[in-house]
Amino acid sequence: MSRYENYSEAAKYYDKTRVPTGGETLIGVLELSRQSGSEFRLLDAGCGTGAYSELVLPHVDRIDAIDINPDMLAVGRKKFANGAPDACITFHQGSIENLPFEAVQFDAVMFNQVLHHLESAQEGDFSGHRNALAEAHRVLRSGGVVIVNCTSHEQLRHGYWYLHLIPTALRALHDRCIPAAKLEAMLSEIGFAVEGRFVPLDGVLQGAAYVDAEGPLKPEWRKTESSWALAPEEEIASAEAKIRELRKSGDLDTYMGEFDAKRRQVGQTTFFVARKV
Ligand SMILES: C[S@@+](CC[C@H](N)C(=O)[O-])C[C@H]1O[C@@H](n2cnc3c(N)ncnc32)[C@H](O)[C@@H]1O
Repeated sequence: MSRYENYSEAAKYYDKTRVPTGGETLIGVLELSRQSGSEFRLLDAGCGTGAYSELVLPHVDRIDAIDINPDMLAVGRKKFANGAPDACITFHQGSIENLPFEAVQFDAVMFNQVLHHLESAQEGDFSGHRNALAEAHRVLRSGGVVIVNCTSHEQLRHGYWYLHLIPTALRALHDRCIPAAKLEAMLSEIGFAVEGRFVPLDGVLQGAAYVDAEGPLKPEWRKTESSWALAPEEEIASAEAKIRELRKSGDLDTYMGEFDAKRRQVGQTTFFVARKV
C-alpha cells in the first residue's frame, strides 16, 4: 500500500492523464526474451489500472497483473472486459513484496513506477525494493527478465517542470527513489545479471496534461501525479500562488518551458533490464 498516495481517489482520474512511456523499448525487450514454442507469461507488478499491460499484451501470451489497491484494479478489469474479449490477463489483489504465485512461473516481470511507493525498514536501506525484487527472482524462470521502470535522481531534478515548486515533495521523492548504482548492485546481489538501462526521451508520464501549465491549480491533475501527495498544504498553496502570479503577468508558459528544457535531455524515467541467472 502506498503510505502517501490515496490510490482509491487517484483511480478516478488516473487514466485521464497518465500515459505509459518507453513502450517501444519495453516491447523490444519482451520480444527478444521470447523463446519460440513456449508460452510467454508476464507479471505486471504494481499494475495500477493496467496501462502497461494493455500496451504489451499483444506481444506476450499471458499476463498476471497484481496491485494492492482494489480501485486501481477495478479500473483495469473494466478496461479489459470492455475492449479485449480474448485478453489473456488475470488481475490479482496483493502485495508485490509477497507475491501469491508459486516459484518459477514467469518469463518476465515488470515494475512500472511502483518501487518508490514501498517502505524501507530503515531509512536508505530500500528493503521494500529488495523484497519485491527478491520475489520477482523467486517467481521467474531461469533466464527470465526483470524490467524496472523508475525515476533517477537526475530525472527528478530536471524531468518534471513543476517539482521545484514543491521542494518538500522533491526531497521526499529523492529519498524514496533508489539511486541507479544501488539498484543495479541490489539486482546482482539477488541473483540477476544486469544487462543495461535505457531512457526514453520522447513521451512524458502525464501525456498532454504534462504541458498544462495551469495543472498545479487543479486537484484532479495533482491527484494523478503522486509527488503532490508528498507536499504539505502550505507548499501547494504557495505553488498555486506562484502559478497564478505568472498567469497574471503572462509569463507562465515561458516559465514552464524554462524549467522543462533539460527534461528533453534527461527524460523522466529509466528502464533497468536484468536477467535471472
Ligand atoms: C504510480 S502507480 C503505477 C501503476 C502502473 N504500474 C502504471 O505505471 O501505470 C503505483 C501503483 O503501485 C501500487 N502499489 C503500491 N504499493 C504496492 C504494493 N506493495 N504491492 C502492489 N502494488 C502496490 C499502487 O496501488 C499503484 O497502483
